[in-house]
Order: sequence, then C-alpha cells, then structure tokens
Amino acid sequence: MTVPDLCVSLCGVRLSNPLVLASGILGTSAELLHRVARCGAGAVTSKSCGPTPREGHPNPTVLDWGHGLINAVGLSNPGADEEVPILRDAKARLIPLGVPLIASIFAETVEGFAEVARKVAEAKPDFIEVNISCPNVEAEFGRPFAADPRDAAAVTAAVRRAVSLPVIVKLSPNVADIAAIARAVEAEGADAIAAINSLGPGMVIDLDSGRPILANRAGGVSGPAIRPIAVRCVYDISRAVRIPVIGIGGVTGGRDAAEMIMAGATAVGVGTAVYYRGPEVFGHIRDELAAFMGTHGYSSVLQMRGVAHGA
Ligand code: DHB
Repeated sequence: MTVPDLCVSLCGVRLSNPLVLASGILGTSAELLHRVARCGAGAVTSKSCGPTPREGHPNPTVLDWGHGLINAVGLSNPGADEEVPILRDAKARLIPLGVPLIASIFAETVEGFAEVARKVAEAKPDFIEVNISCPNVEAEFGRPFAADPRDAAAVTAAVRRAVSLPVIVKLSPNVADIAAIARAVEAEGADAIAAINSLGPGMVIDLDSGRPILANRAGGVSGPAIRPIAVRCVYDISRAVRIPVIGIGGVTGGRDAAEMIMAGATAVGVGTAVYYRGPEVFGHIRDELAAFMGTHGYSSVLQMRGVAHGA
C-alpha cells in the first residue's frame, strides 16, 4: 500500500496536511498556536481580533450540551495593536515547523475591517481570515455581514484593497442561500472561503432554575450535531465558486475530514473536536485520514476532493 499524500496547496501556500485549527479555539497566544502546530495541524488560525480590546460576554460562555458545544464568547480579544506582536511571535515560531498562520479579524463596519486587516498584515501572517459571521454580537453589531451578499461583498472588497495577502472570508450557515454569498465574495476578490461558522444562535435552558445557561442567553452551536449542515454548505459552495473552500463544522475524526474533502473542501477546519480529543486531535485525525485514504485507494487529497459531486 502506498502512503497517501496529505499535502495540499491553499492559494499557493503549502500545508503538510489539510487540517486547520479553526478560529476561536486555542488561538489566543503564540504559545498555544505553536503547540497546536506541533500536534500536527497543517495550518493554524488565531482568535478573531477587532479594532479595540473587548472583554467579551460574562461567564458561563461555553457549554457542552450533549451533542456539541454552545458558546457565546463575545469576541473577546486584545485589539489589533496588541494582537500584532502576538501574531509576529506566532509566525516566528511557526516558520521552522512549516505551518502557515491565518490571522482572523472582525469589525463593526466595512472600513473597520480594512483598518484591522492593514494593521494585522504588519505581522506578516500567511492569510487573513475575515470573520463576517460571528453569531454572538448581533445585539451590539446588528445583523452579521455574512447574512447579505451585498454586505459580504462590501467587506471583502475593502479588505482586498487594504492588503496583498490571500483573503479567506468566513461564511455563516444561517442564510437561505450560502452559494449566493460565496459567489458575491468571490466576485470581490476573496481568495478562499471558510465555511461554516457556528450555527444559530441556539439556546439551552437549565431546567432547575428555568433560565438560559449561557450568560448571553443564546450562543453559536458547534460540534458533531452540525456536521451534516456544514457538509451540505461546503458542497453547495464548491459547486458555485472556483476558489478553494476550508470546510469547517463538527469534524472529529479522519472519516469526517474525508467527508468534507469529498464534499469539495481543499482544507478542513477542526475546532470543537479539540474539546473532545485534546490538541493531539490534529495528529490523530491526520493519521486516521491517511489510513482511510490508504484503505480506499486514494493516493492524494486532490484525488478525493469533490468526488461527491460525481463525474
Ligand atoms: C464567537 C465568534 C464566532 O465567530 C463564533 O462562531 C462563535 C463565537 C465569539 O467570540 O463569541
């Protein structure tokens, strides 16, 4: 049996395997990003950073509800000025490992996105991820930009003009036609799409107190329960656009990663599975994916990509 080639090219950047640390999971420090890279991730994404420091929502912010997690972290971050040295440090640690760094950003306005992108680009990450799909700040920020093709396109165009790095736009599953949003951001120069962000918001109520458990009451739903939705979104997006897709949502094992790739993903995000299997999950899923490919006769990720679409 030949050893399958797990290496992928994402916008011309080499990943030794398709597994990417999703944003918001352990991405808050250079040390943690480095640790995840050492555990076998093909690329790592930092926690989304905005123009100014934010504490985020009060605790409890994360809950295991039995079939995944629900969270309302509230985009806690140190602000772009503080983030730049963290990303610089992370980049310096990741270079020797050959693991690319994706710097995730958010803002409240189109111009805010451009400003944060410009600032964060100073740290020379390999990609910028544009988070237009956080489900937890609607009360403050209004409807997410990812909910409307024109809004999503406007943010993409502004970030595209602001930086020369590859731009990944992260979409929300909470829309009627995700393919239309994907086409809109591709038309404005997005280099890749990340899909999906967490689902919802959802709510879990504590039956003893009769009150919602999260302090924010509602939060983004993630984990195994949302995987079929993520797979369908990746399938629809990869039919609609030519740019690569990072498939994210509930991937916990090697077979789940294979499913995302068959749906059309070039790379595969892993987030909630870190809660279930620890940071070592990246090495585990990588090895499980290689074993699956070996037994099913796939010699490369490219050969498996999009097979669900048929001839
Ligand atoms: C948060 C942001 C997200 O994009 C998400 O999917 C879930 C939570 C947050 O910081 O609240």
